[in-house]
Amino acid sequence: MKNITINVSKKYDVFLGDGIIASCDEIIGSVISPKKIAVITDDIVDTLYAEYVERILSSNFSVKKYVIKNGEASKNIDTLTSILEFLASNDFTREDALVSVGGGVVGDITGLSASLYMRGINFIQIPTTLLAMCDASVGGKTAVNLKYGKNLMGTFWQPSAVICDTEIVKNLPVDIFNEGMAEVIKCDIIRKCGIIDAVIEDKIKDNIEAVVEKCILLKKDIIEKDEFEKSGQRKFLNVGHTVAHAIEKLSDYKISHGSAVGMGLIIEAQMSKKLGYCDNKTVEKITKAVKKSNLYFDIPYNPKDMVCAMKKDKKNDNNLISFVLPKQIGECFEIKLSPEETENLISFVI
Ligand SMILES: NC(=O)c1ccc[n+]([C@@H]2O[C@H](COP(=O)([O-])OP(=O)(O)OC[C@H]3O[C@@H](n4cnc5c(N)ncnc54)[C@H](O)[C@@H]3O)[C@@H](O)[C@H]2O)c1
Repeated sequence: MKNITINVSKKYDVFLGDGIIASCDEIIGSVISPKKIAVITDDIVDTLYAEYVERILSSNFSVKKYVIKNGEASKNIDTLTSILEFLASNDFTREDALVSVGGGVVGDITGLSASLYMRGINFIQIPTTLLAMCDASVGGKTAVNLKYGKNLMGTFWQPSAVICDTEIVKNLPVDIFNEGMAEVIKCDIIRKCGIIDAVIEDKIKDNIEAVVEKCILLKKDIIEKDEFEKSGQRKFLNVGHTVAHAIEKLSDYKISHGSAVGMGLIIEAQMSKKLGYCDNKTVEKITKAVKKSNLYFDIPYNPKDMVCAMKKDKKNDNNLISFVLPKQIGECFEIKLSPEETENLISFVI
């Protein structure tokens, strides 16, 4: 098992290795001493992993479990309230802890619940998707969506530990694995590390532990410099995401985050090329990697509606829409565009 220490306002370790979910009780016991644990999961992950985690933890802790409906549509205030009410009705206190077992949706809403319940209690992330392992579980961003847009309500609340069992990603259904590839490809666009070439050459699955580790190390480096997204570096993690969040919102969250990010990366690379910042070779490489991961689709929305959805993006200021665009593989920059400029660009590229 490897440990990656995240040195932010609250220092914690990401534990990484094959089969380590079986030791989750020891790992949790080594970092916190909760009296009770609430396992939060969704109705798909419950039978796959959460029941198992519940059983293991029950030998050392008093455990309750709360199961939400799977999917992005559950990432809302109603689910958040139901988790908080569940904790209160089971007499959870600040001495206790939450453990999320699931993908990014479960992780984001569990983190937000942990940050709000009694003004904050400990939580542990056990990510079960590639996307959650490589990105969502590390860094302390928590959120739910509001009807006006994606992740509009949230906090920064770091976990006490992240337990990444890489065996889990090896057994993922192919579509869920591919959705995670969007955020993996994103890492190479932010800091060149050979991932895109490996995707194109079909070499990702053979080296998945190393890929997960590379992504976590990139995230560690960025959040240690800019934990609260103040100095600008953390914004780079949003490359592809302004377009992606608009797609997700317009689809009423039926298009998954990973699929939307895949197309967001292509469209934002094309926008960058049209603005004269990146060359055709970069656009082609990103497009190839996204297509190879089976994330390519025709955008079913018109540019006007997309811009309307982008106007609610939380990165915007002064009525300008903020984008992080690629210059080349390994280099991104932030640009703010007016809604009119954005609509013209989107009309040109889609
Ligand atoms: N907090 C952050 O920094 C951050 C970063 C990136 C993404 N996110 C958020 O993460 C979410 C997307 O995460 P996601 O792609 O994991 O989505 P998800 O949590 O909805 O999981 C996708 C689907 O996979 C199922 N699933 C989970 N684990 C499985 C397993 N091992 N085997 C089979 N099925 C499994 C889930 O039940 C769900 O139906 C979005 O809400 C996004 O905004 C957060």
